[in-house]
Amino acid sequence: MKILVTGGAGFIGSHLVRRLVVQGGHEVVNLDALKYSGNPANVKDLEGKASYRFVHGDIADQPLVERLLREHRIEGVINAAAETHVDRSILDPGSFARTDVVGTGVLIEESRRAGVLRFLQVSTDEVYGSVETGSSTEDDQLAPRSPYSASKAGGDLLALSYWTTFRFPVVVTRGSNTYGPNQYPEKFIPLFVTNAIDDQPLPLYGDGRQRRDWLAVEDHCAAIEHVFLQGEPGHVYNVGGGNERENITVAEQMLAYLNKPRNLIRFVHDRPGHDRRYAVDCGKVRQLGWKPTVPFDVGLRATVEWYRTNESWWRKIKSGEFRAYYEEMYGKRLLDAGGK
Ligand SMILES: NC(=O)c1ccc[n+]([C@@H]2O[C@H](COP(=O)([O-])OP(=O)(O)OC[C@H]3O[C@@H](n4cnc5c(N)ncnc54)[C@H](O)[C@@H]3O)[C@@H](O)[C@H]2O)c1
Repeated sequence: MKILVTGGAGFIGSHLVRRLVVQGGHEVVNLDALKYSGNPANVKDLEGKASYRFVHGDIADQPLVERLLREHRIEGVINAAAETHVDRSILDPGSFARTDVVGTGVLIEESRRAGVLRFLQVSTDEVYGSVETGSSTEDDQLAPRSPYSASKAGGDLLALSYWTTFRFPVVVTRGSNTYGPNQYPEKFIPLFVTNAIDDQPLPLYGDGRQRRDWLAVEDHCAAIEHVFLQGEPGHVYNVGGGNERENITVAEQMLAYLNKPRNLIRFVHDRPGHDRRYAVDCGKVRQLGWKPTVPFDVGLRATVEWYRTNESWWRKIKSGEFRAYYEEMYGKRLLDAGGK
């Protein structure tokens, strides 16, 4: 199949593109705006392959999207491009609405006009909001609480409206917290691993008892591919790893793998509106034939090992734009918590 994947230079997108090209034998055009988390190094190994093409551009650029879809006779679109970090959505909400809602709107409208056969919108379990008990099913009402999750919910619902209104064959995945190699080190797991390697404090929000369901990136990508090919149009599929853990437990586990002391953990002022817990019921996607394969302990250990042995990948990032962001996000918090 000829597939346009957006956001394919980012964390999940790069693993997905590799999977589709190398394992799936698909032809992939990767459209990525190369924003701060988009990294050409993530897909360097695919350069030169006849079935792969990288295009630097924005999903909200209507003439560009229109041209790409027609020029490459694209049959399927997977939209993984997004602004993705909750903390940044608190600093700059506008950019989230622009890409995650408006950009998704441009991409899906052009896909419909070009007669694309399948469109998958990569959404997130965060659209359900904080779930104190039980687990969210696909029919639950969305209750996003951050500019990130609200923008993602906007894109998710916009995509679904294209099935209802136009019978345009859309499927949506709502994946849980994903971890693995190549994740920009602003996110919880790579931030903590790389800080710990450097004996720097690990800024843990609030009491550290927030719960997330961790999903290995290879399992997430397998689910996206499976739903893209097999999912029923107009349907949503929750995708979770079945590994619900408190953040503090994950932090302690990473420190243990690295042989670093627990006192690197600093409890810092919580994120405003921090969701306490996400949990998704994955019965529907399991029925479709997907299930997670990576046990959390195995996946986390391998991920920690990847960051330990790929320092050049993350040191370059952490010495750039990241420093100003980190100072803004954690500088005062760490001082208040008793020093950096
Ligand atoms: N990481 C997670 O835990 C997780 C969980 C569930 C769902 N998701 C979703 O998966 C998708 C990928 O997330 P990720 O963690 O890989 O994020 P990421 O930040 O690593 O990658 C996002 C990519 O999108 C690109 N991008 C941003 N705006 C763009 C635009 N306007 N046009 C083209 N490209 C643009 C960036 O350059 C980057 O390469 C997102 O839709 C996210 O909401 C992520």
